[in-house]
Amino acid sequence: MSRVLIAPSILSADFARLGEEVAAIAAAGADFIHVDVMDGHFVPNLTIGPMVVKAIRGATDLPFDVHLMISPVDAYIDEFAAAGANILTVHPEAGPHLHRTIQRIKGAGVKAGAALNPATPASAIEAAIEDLDLVLVMSVNPGFGGQKFITSQLKKIEAIRKLIDASGKSVHLEVDGGVDPNTAPLAIEAGADVLVAGSAVFRGGESQYAANIAALRPGS
Ligand code: DX5
Ligand code: ZN
Repeated sequence: MSRVLIAPSILSADFARLGEEVAAIAAAGADFIHVDVMDGHFVPNLTIGPMVVKAIRGATDLPFDVHLMISPVDAYIDEFAAAGANILTVHPEAGPHLHRTIQRIKGAGVKAGAALNPATPASAIEAAIEDLDLVLVMSVNPGFGGQKFITSQLKKIEAIRKLIDASGKSVHLEVDGGVDPNTAPLAIEAGADVLVAGSAVFRGGESQYAANIAALRPGS
């Protein structure tokens, strides 16, 4: 399996200093910058939009892994791509035509991901696997940072790992929610190769970011 990548979620960053926080996690060893976009409709929280993505784009060259928890989603894809997203991940429930949404993402020149809520089965993205660059398995219900990892999602990670391997395609398998030094090894063992973590990366302040990121990597 490929190297495990760490994608800190800036949902746990200090929003008053967001650009500096992005630069700090990049310097601390992050591989992707995970940006959680919430609309107060698809999920019960409001976060940031394309203007903020554009504003922090200059803080690092790392890929922006943008998790869209918004519905409807299609009308915003081009704007997030133009703002500097490198991966746009959508939930199948956020629109009636997942395939069309994926094509639209690719048409905007960025990589396409699909995210599965805890109650959404692996089969929801099975028919789309060959068109995807990333599958995100939510290990909490989306909306907030700092929730507890739902261990029943490990079976879904295993199932998606099998789907990806059978496809023969290079597709990232990302896990998001409640990832910390205790749960990270479980997710990796189940087949994840990208770990999103918010509270486990940002806790303790900037002097701890490098150690917090290192503590999520295998063998740490
Ligand atoms: C939840 C978000 C996650 C979350 C992760 O809806 O998609 O990215 O912020 O935060 P932690 O790591 O604190 O669970
Ligand atoms: Zn997320």
